[in-house]
Amino acid sequence: MKAVALTHYLPISDPESLFDARLPKPSPTGRDLLVRVEAVSVNPVDTKVRAPKEKVEDTPKVLGYDAAGVVESVGDAVTRFKPGDAVYYAGDITRPGSNAEFQLVDERIVGAMPQTLSFAEAAALPLTTLTAWEALFTRLGINRAGGDSRSVREPTRNEYPYGNRGQSILIIGGAGGVGSIAIQLAKLAGLVVIATASRPQSQAWVRELGADHSVDYSDALIEEMAQLGHREVDFIANFSDTDAYWGVMAELIRPQGKIVGIVGNTDPLDLNLLKNKSATFAWEFMFTRSMYQTADMADQGHLLNEVAALIDAKTVRTTLGQTLSPINATNLRQAHAQIESGRTIGKLVLEGWR
Ligand SMILES: NC(=O)c1ccc[n+]([C@@H]2O[C@H](COP(=O)([O-])OP(=O)(O)OC[C@H]3O[C@@H](n4cnc5c(N)ncnc54)[C@H](OP(=O)(O)O)[C@@H]3O)[C@@H](O)[C@H]2O)c1
Repeated sequence: MKAVALTHYLPISDPESLFDARLPKPSPTGRDLLVRVEAVSVNPVDTKVRAPKEKVEDTPKVLGYDAAGVVESVGDAVTRFKPGDAVYYAGDITRPGSNAEFQLVDERIVGAMPQTLSFAEAAALPLTTLTAWEALFTRLGINRAGGDSRSVREPTRNEYPYGNRGQSILIIGGAGGVGSIAIQLAKLAGLVVIATASRPQSQAWVRELGADHSVDYSDALIEEMAQLGHREVDFIANFSDTDAYWGVMAELIRPQGKIVGIVGNTDPLDLNLLKNKSATFAWEFMFTRSMYQTADMADQGHLLNEVAALIDAKTVRTTLGQTLSPINATNLRQAHAQIESGRTIGKLVLEGWR
């Protein structure tokens, strides 16, 4: 099968950093699906795994952690899918990735592809959707039915989607892949959404996705928030540099509020800054469930199914920003370079093999 791989970890300007390869087609066993990959998206995790280092792989290593495609065959313990089903998934970072014509993936972390989307539009979604959903609804505990998460009372049906009683969220990195889906999910939960965006195009994008306000992080964020009338927010979802925003987040979080981070820190974080406010900080890592084979791993498949239903109901839209074709080393190197610039709006997808 065709694939794009690496053996050496090189700067993306080096033509050998990602190369076209021919690899054996794998066969599924147990709960694995063999998927014929039709489209993939590129995430910052691809560039982080590929980052230059001394290590050399004995056999070609395939990256790629977002795919949409069709089930080709299934392992003997598979119950949820059959050959011919269209699926979308992020996969498992400990296994060969999606930048290959065929990929093995555990059925528990796979969703049925939204029926109203193309493969490219669907491939834009899984990794960032899993991250945003788990960040907002699992780690921050936001009531996704729109109820007041501070109350023990269950929301009534007619509160949806206007619940959460004016609670607010600051989304840092609003126009990126994770931010673009998180804005939509937070609006669905009835929150007031303030999203950071530094350029006219990213500001327009976050407003189009439903953000109530955009704020420019390159200026004084705390003053910008005060001018908007949001000196404090109930929730902060930081989809950017955790170290750089730590002090600002401690200032902006409301007493008893909650913060989620998805980017590992490089300096020690001063948790004391959150102590007097009894504020919570939580990590989200969307590979946790597959990496540790947690008992609730199948929730990721269910979650992707639920989002597919929201997409088909036109409640949520794809975050696809740009498509390159075909899936080959030249286009993947270009995509990695774009992601490394830190300026992508929405998602960058590659589609087709010729
Ligand atoms: N833990 C996890 O499970 C997980 C999952 C997914 C991603 N991540 C990590 O989360 C980060 C974001 O991922 P992504 O896919 O959303 O990235 P992305 O799509 O590459 O994000 C690009 C966006 O980041 C914004 N940005 C750049 N510098 C910024 C800054 N200093 N402050 C605020 N926003 C800034 C830009 O907005 P403007 O155009 O407005 O400047 C741009 O639109 C990456 O580091 C990624 O590795 C972690």
